[in-house]
Amino acid sequence: MQILKLGGSAITIKSGWMRANKIAIARLAQAVARAWKKGARNLIIVHGAGSFGHPLVLKWGLDGGVRTPRQKVACFRTHLACCSLSALLTGALVENGVPAVSIPPMDIIRSKNRRIASFNTKPVFAALGSGRVPVLFGDMVPDSKLGYSVCSGDQIAAYLGKKASRVILASNVDGVMAKGRLVPLITRRNYAKISRHLSGSSSPDVTGGMAGKIKEMLSIRKPVFIANASKPSRITALLLGKKAVCTKIRW
Ligand SMILES: Nc1ncnc2c1ncn2[C@@H]1O[C@H](COP(=O)(O)OP(=O)(O)OP(=O)(O)O)[C@@H](O)[C@H]1O
Ligand SMILES: [Mg+2]
Repeated sequence: MQILKLGGSAITIKSGWMRANKIAIARLAQAVARAWKKGARNLIIVHGAGSFGHPLVLKWGLDGGVRTPRQKVACFRTHLACCSLSALLTGALVENGVPAVSIPPMDIIRSKNRRIASFNTKPVFAALGSGRVPVLFGDMVPDSKLGYSVCSGDQIAAYLGKKASRVILASNVDGVMAKGRLVPLITRRNYAKISRHLSGSSSPDVTGGMAGKIKEMLSIRKPVFIANASKPSRITALLLGKKAVCTKIRW
């Protein structure tokens, strides 16, 4: 089983307000469909929220917790925005012959202080077992300390990645860059040096951009590939276990 996370920077115009990148979504759906038809069947897709999540969370101050009636309305508006982005991506996959189903994390994940405390994976693996492609996403989830909190697609990919053979993270960069160059491999040996070059995102991102992403991935102890979603053929290649321009994390 493999996990493909399609970053919010890849499927939305991240600097906007709820702006989907429909062209990128269509191209990525075709790329996934190509791999799926060639045998990459055991697949879970997670996607980021991009401009359907981060700017809404920032505007309504949802990152510090959801308590007041006003914040609750904002929280559910944000959830709905994430669901609508998921419908666009899932729809594009379905149009390309991939039996994708969107499963909202709000219904199956509970967090404590922004970290996943329980995850009912049954619906995910039931869908997978029936030949469907589950699609999860960065979402607002119930939180025992904060009311509701942001659960990033990266955190979900890392959680499910523990049960996977590999994780592919597709974003808007060729991989991890250091001094303007692509880092082909991150291991325990070079991580300290590389981590100095990791920072948040150039666009609004409440879950830490590249630095947050890599931190999530270190705990899973499975091969992780960070690749550029604007080069969809690279995503097809990685899904089929072939080589492509990317950063590999081998922990
Ligand atoms: N060393 C680095 N190498 C590459 N990108 C980096 C680095 N440091 C910071 N970044 C930033 O991280 C961004 C990618 O992370 P980001 O969280 O924005 O993408 P995403 O996962 O596609 O989005 P989302 O969180 O909405 O799913 C890049 O666009 C870049 O601005
Ligand atoms: Mg991010």
